[in-house]
Amino acid sequence: MSEKRVVVVTGASRGIGRAIAAALARPGHDIIVNYHSSPDAAKETAAAVSDRGGSAYLHGFNVSDPESVREAFKRILNDHGRIDVLVNNAGITRDNLVALMKPTEWDEVLDTNLKGAFLCSQAVVRPMMRQRYGRIVNVTSVVGVIGNAGQCNYSAAKAGLLGLTRALARELVSRNITVNAVAPGFIQTDMTLRLPEKTRESLLEQIPAGRYGAPEDVAAAVDFLASDAAGYITGQVIHVNGGMFMG
Ligand SMILES: NC(=O)c1ccc[n+]([C@@H]2O[C@H](COP(=O)([O-])OP(=O)(O)OC[C@H]3O[C@@H](n4cnc5c(N)ncnc54)[C@H](OP(=O)(O)O)[C@@H]3O)[C@@H](O)[C@H]2O)c1
Repeated sequence: MSEKRVVVVTGASRGIGRAIAAALARPGHDIIVNYHSSPDAAKETAAAVSDRGGSAYLHGFNVSDPESVREAFKRILNDHGRIDVLVNNAGITRDNLVALMKPTEWDEVLDTNLKGAFLCSQAVVRPMMRQRYGRIVNVTSVVGVIGNAGQCNYSAAKAGLLGLTRALARELVSRNITVNAVAPGFIQTDMTLRLPEKTRESLLEQIPAGRYGAPEDVAAAVDFLASDAAGYITGQVIHVNGGMFMG
């Protein structure tokens, strides 16, 4: 991205979202740092954006709540005049075996990881069509492709995100708007730190690179898909997983 761009990153208070916000920061770029429950962590993201010469703007809203999303994007458009890049990164896990999974655990994961991406995409589609320019990047997961026991809700949401990516890519391609996905493998963040040590060790054995990924590994792929250079790429998935799955 060379000219001034307005970039929205959901779930940017921590982990992968923070690294994406920092990677997309450039002098002259406005980076909207969305958070839900961690305003203090979001301030650290804002500092990382400023360190790279970007301008950070904190916006707390819940991506799964239609009214908050509508209000937030209305305000962003009002304040910044346009939205060039949307990164749908916010995500949660509520792991359980299907036999034990509560309907609320299913709903929370689908609402945040899939409906959230739909609501935020819907909010930017019209302005991007008017601009005849846009980049939407969805952060899905390797388990949306290969599945994972104990994560039926999360795998379903992430697989759904791939369907959303491809269908929306077809809707918008003629307007110079691309929609792509990045599918991380296992990345060192709070989300994977929560896993039991034994699970973390056995997961490591499945990664040919011999290490967990860093948030910056994912951010680099998002930065490329969000760039002008990626303008002829749409409906695609870049896997960032140390060789764990080769699609
Ligand atoms: N870590 C991995 O190995 C891995 C692998 C594949 C895919 N991913 C995906 O990558 C994305 C980021 O994961 P991560 O590992 O960085 O997770 P994380 O460290 O747990 O951070 C999750 C982020 O999502 C935000 N969030 C959660 N619910 C939200 C909501 N309702 N509205 C707005 N923001 C919300 C959180 O904000 P607050 O803290 O402010 O609430 C936080 O910034 C997720 O979509 C995840 O599924 C991660």
